Order: sequence, then structure tokens, then C-alpha cells
Amino acid sequence: MNIVYLNGSFIPKEEASVSVMDRGFLFADGVYEVIPVYSGKLFRLDEHLSRLQRSLDAIRLQAPFKPEEWQAMLCELVDKNGGGNQALYLQVTRGIENIRDHRFPDQVKPTVFAMSNPITKPSGKDLKHILDNTPGISTITTKDIRWDRCDIKSISLLPNILLRQQALDAGAQEALLIKNGYLTEGAASNCFVIKDGVIFTPPKNKLILGGITRDLIIELARKNQIDCKEVPINEATLNNADEIWISSSTKEIVPVVELDNKAVGQGKVGPLWRKMTGLYIQYKLSLFET
Ligand code: PDD
Repeated sequence: MNIVYLNGSFIPKEEASVSVMDRGFLFADGVYEVIPVYSGKLFRLDEHLSRLQRSLDAIRLQAPFKPEEWQAMLCELVDKNGGGNQALYLQVTRGIENIRDHRFPDQVKPTVFAMSNPITKPSGKDLKHILDNTPGISTITTKDIRWDRCDIKSISLLPNILLRQQALDAGAQEALLIKNGYLTEGAASNCFVIKDGVIFTPPKNKLILGGITRDLIIELARKNQIDCKEVPINEATLNNADEIWISSSTKEIVPVVELDNKAVGQGKVGPLWRKMTGLYIQYKLSLFET
């Protein structure tokens, strides 16, 4: 996983460097994607590239590549890093200018960087092992201190970092964020609440990042006649949940067994999580061998 892509070249990570005048470094002026790779193939690539385009449009940065060019570059990076299972990180910033000035520079050549990280998921063929051995995580609730454009996958992640660290400092693994009495999402994940066999998740709007994993969970629920509703979730509903899950591209679907030091439901991994994880893994196995 040592080869990275930087502005047209595939090079070893330790040889890759970016100017201190890059607007990503000075202003966090850029966007990113994280794309899982299974058996050397990119998972839900079209969805990730569409979201990347929406993020670029939102920050008014012209896409440096067309979809097929992104695909070719990312596939080459995956191959150069040995195929298999990986998590691709892709970042585009507004590039380099010789002075630090907030306004957009006239001539912008975006900086494009991509790297690959190991992804350690047990093989989907061991579904029973996964279902029987996933421990479930602890979470805290805390105020969502972020801005009003959380739908943009911005590299400006300081609030998310502070919130995640707050959870870790409290002995939990993720922070579930509350804005004006309603659940938005996790510090780096989307959130699902299960009550009486129905899956609830906050609607996609500017207060959350529309997760690719989230959308797939909803798609799989609907295909399998599991009731799934995209509705605002207040704190009382969150506190009375039978099950809570978080989701992200690298973690997939993670059961939450503790919220603010109290058990969620029975305090154990729940039956609907088992069902949904089975569907998710079946779907993956239908596309890849892992
Ligand atoms: N983060 N919400 C936030 C704030 C996130 O940072 C993420 C993922 C998600 C889930 O989106 P997806 O299912 O498309 O991964 C939701 C990535 C993995 C990260 O920053 O590393």
C-alpha cells in the first residue's frame, strides 16, 4: 500500500510532497472521498464519483477529471498496491498560489492526491463468525458543533476530529451528534435507529453527509421488505431505541450497544443488525469473492 497518486504520478508515499502554499494545507480548501475496494474492485464507484462531483460543485471547483479518468487512475492505484481489499482515500484541493488570500485564485490547478490504506474485514464467507463475534460499540451523544453544509465531503474536519476524540476520551468509540434536539449523524458515520422492527434514519439534507453505505442499507431494506423510514429522530426516540447502528464505507454496519453509559435495548447486538449485515454481506458476495 505504499504507492500514492499525486498530480499525474504514481510514486512511493515517502517521495510525495505538496507545497506549503497548497490551499488544502492553508485553508482546508478541498474535498475528499473514501472508497472501499474488495477483491481489487471498487465498491459503489459511480455513487462515490457522483458524490465527489456534488462536493466539487458545492465548493465551485472544476473537476480535474471525467468519471472514466477517475476510474482509470484509481484502478491503476489499486493494482499498483497489490489489489485485494483496500480503502482508497482521494483528495482534491484548490491548488497552489504564491500568496495566502481567501478569495479564489484566478488560475487554479487543483491538487489531486490518492492513497490506499489497508482494510481488514473478515471474509464475507465467514458470515456466521462475523455475526457471532462482532462486539458492538459504545457511543456518547454530544452537541453537533459543525456548520450548515455537512453534505459537502470537505477536508475541513476539525469539528469531527474534536467530537470523535471527545467520544474516545469518554471511553466510547463514536459520538452521535444532536442538533436542536435531533440526531444528525456520527462524527464519521451515519446513524440508524431501530424500533419495533422499523429502521429509522435522518433524512438527507445539508446537516448530514449522505453516506454511500447509508444509501445501500436503505436500498437493501426496501428490496427485502424491511420497513425503513428517512425521518427526523429526536433524542427521546434515540434513547428508547431497540437497536442503534452506525455505518461508513470502511466500517460497514456497526451495532451500538451502549449510549451515554446506558444499554441500548437489551445491551446486545440486535436481531435486525444480524439480518441487515447478512443482506449486506450477501450483496457484497454477489459482486466480489470476499
Ligand atoms: N467518513 N458521515 C460522516 C461525517 C462521515 O465522515 C462518513 C464517512 C459518513 C459515512 O459515509 P460513507 O458511507 O459514504 O463512508 C457519514 C469516511 C469513511 C472518513 O472520513 O474516513
